[in-house]
Amino acid sequence: MAPGEECSVLVHEAPCLAPPHNNISTVLLVIAMQAEALPLVEALKLSQDDTLVFPKSVPWIKYSGIHDGLHIHIVVPGKDAVLGVDNVGTVSGALVSYAAIQALQPDLLINAGTAGGFKIFDKYGVGATKTIPTPKLVEALGLKLGKLSTGNSLDMSPQDEEVIKSNDATIKDMEGAAVAYVANLFSVPAILIKSVTDIIDGGRPTTEEFLENLSMAADALLKTGICVLKFLNGKSIADL
Ligand code: ADE
Repeated sequence: MAPGEECSVLVHEAPCLAPPHNNISTVLLVIAMQAEALPLVEALKLSQDDTLVFPKSVPWIKYSGIHDGLHIHIVVPGKDAVLGVDNVGTVSGALVSYAAIQALQPDLLINAGTAGGFKIFDKYGVGATKTIPTPKLVEALGLKLGKLSTGNSLDMSPQDEEVIKSNDATIKDMEGAAVAYVANLFSVPAILIKSVTDIIDGGRPTTEEFLENLSMAADALLKTGICVLKFLNGKSIADL
């Protein structure tokens, strides 16, 4: 074999010099409510470990561990020091996402939580979205795809309703857009997974329906969350 040919064989084998894969390795889940996060923390056997990640003064909590070959971190914004309620909403969601992305450099960010749904939940969301396309994930898990509207109120004012409807949103939460905004700032691929607690245009008081269905929705979120993480195993962002 001529030296040139030998060399060309080596050149063809060159892919071994390139990164072996770009599979997802570190996943950051941002979850606003403890009731939504703790079932996943327990199921994934994650441990609380936030001392080196967040400033001492903040109530934010990080749970971490390895599951199905993925480094998984769940961060929650914790409780309000005075009122004792979960720090839901866009401000806490954005801040905790910012700090966690800086510290953990995730390959993928998932904002998981509950949301209010409209009766027309099946409507496919079209238009500007800052989350990544996940057609294979959606198909494999039989998920519904929709546009999410985020605001800082559980209830919906007439002005909110007008904006939500004019943008074809089919679900409504209190963190998703803020978390996706921060992920986009740092070019971290993001997806939002929401479990519906209440039908906004269903005629019942939202708070009552939300509280009644919270544990059922958290259970559904847990099951779907586990399936999503299983699906991510061995895949790259492009495989989703
Ligand atoms: N989370 C659960 N239900 C919600 C609603 N109706 N609006 C905003 N966030 C929610």
